[in-house]
Amino acid sequence: MSAENDFKYTDSDWEQLIQLRNQFLLEIGQIKNQYWTSPQLLELYHRTFAERIGWKWEAVLNELKKKEAIQFAKQYVLLDFGCGTGIASSKFIEIMGPSLISELWLWDRSKNAVRFATEKLKTKNPDILVKDLQQLEAPKRDWILVLSHVINETSDKDLEVILALAGEAQYVIWIEPGTREHSSRLVDVREKLKGIMNVIAPCTHSEACGMLAKENNRHWCHFFAPPPTEVFQSAFWNQFSKKMEIDLRSLPLSYLVFSRVPQLNKMGHEMSRVIGRPRLYKGYGKFLLCNRKGVFDSQVLERGNKNLFKEYKTTVFTKEIEML
Ligand SMILES: C[S@@+](CC[C@H](N)C(=O)[O-])C[C@H]1O[C@@H](n2cnc3c(N)ncnc32)[C@H](O)[C@@H]1O
Repeated sequence: MSAENDFKYTDSDWEQLIQLRNQFLLEIGQIKNQYWTSPQLLELYHRTFAERIGWKWEAVLNELKKKEAIQFAKQYVLLDFGCGTGIASSKFIEIMGPSLISELWLWDRSKNAVRFATEKLKTKNPDILVKDLQQLEAPKRDWILVLSHVINETSDKDLEVILALAGEAQYVIWIEPGTREHSSRLVDVREKLKGIMNVIAPCTHSEACGMLAKENNRHWCHFFAPPPTEVFQSAFWNQFSKKMEIDLRSLPLSYLVFSRVPQLNKMGHEMSRVIGRPRLYKGYGKFLLCNRKGVFDSQVLERGNKNLFKEYKTTVFTKEIEML
């Protein structure tokens, strides 16, 4: 967690953050085209909302790292689309290690954002060449595309551009808020990209998304990242939570990871993904599971699954379990 939050926030700072949050809550197409009006606003965002987004990236990237989902034998250009203050690339480099990245390319329709992120990331990673893109282009070498919290701001036309770009990358890692609306847009992306790329997370299969089945329209594909425990003792985050009316315990996200290389299940068995948070009772739990057969509720006994229950009682992000 960042120690930077010793920073003193004025009433005007809080007001700016509230207005920014109101922007983010608007529906697709209603969000202003250019809302990064000053470096000061970017700094406020970076210390607060982006910090929380960073915890989501930590959850996803730690899972990918554990599964060795990215080929470490190579070096990649990392392209951050809609970089904002650069939290996605910052977390990628921190967790995957700087040696995986030969260059970092930053792209945003806001020049203020690109400038801000470039400065931050150059200072933090002096050995990585950071390029502030003046126009969108795909690297000619092996590269990884990261996207974070942009889908609600992109028109259908923008989305086509992103999909064409994504189709050229070695890996695509895309994280969005865990609302029904964001998740449903990501499912559309999945269905369009899965003919070109291999979807490797959170899906354990490459069949059509089970969420699209009529009987599942009350569900959506989302997960909960665990915030750092220090947050709950922090006077700053407590104040942030009250002012923004945000529950600190809940960090919902939707995400997708694609790879050009098919991922072999190293365990050799078929797996189911646990969606959202299971409801745990004495001796059993109700789990929403996803696998190649679809998305369905399943009652899982605690006996024989003690570790799984223990993890869900604490702070696990999401688990794959052997297919039932
Ligand atoms: C909510 S912010 C998220 C910023 C950052 N990715 C993060 O996770 O903190 C969305 C960003 O996407 C940028 N953006 C939205 N649509 C875009 C587009 N079509 N092309 C480039 N950038 C875009 C905005 O300018 C803004 O910086």
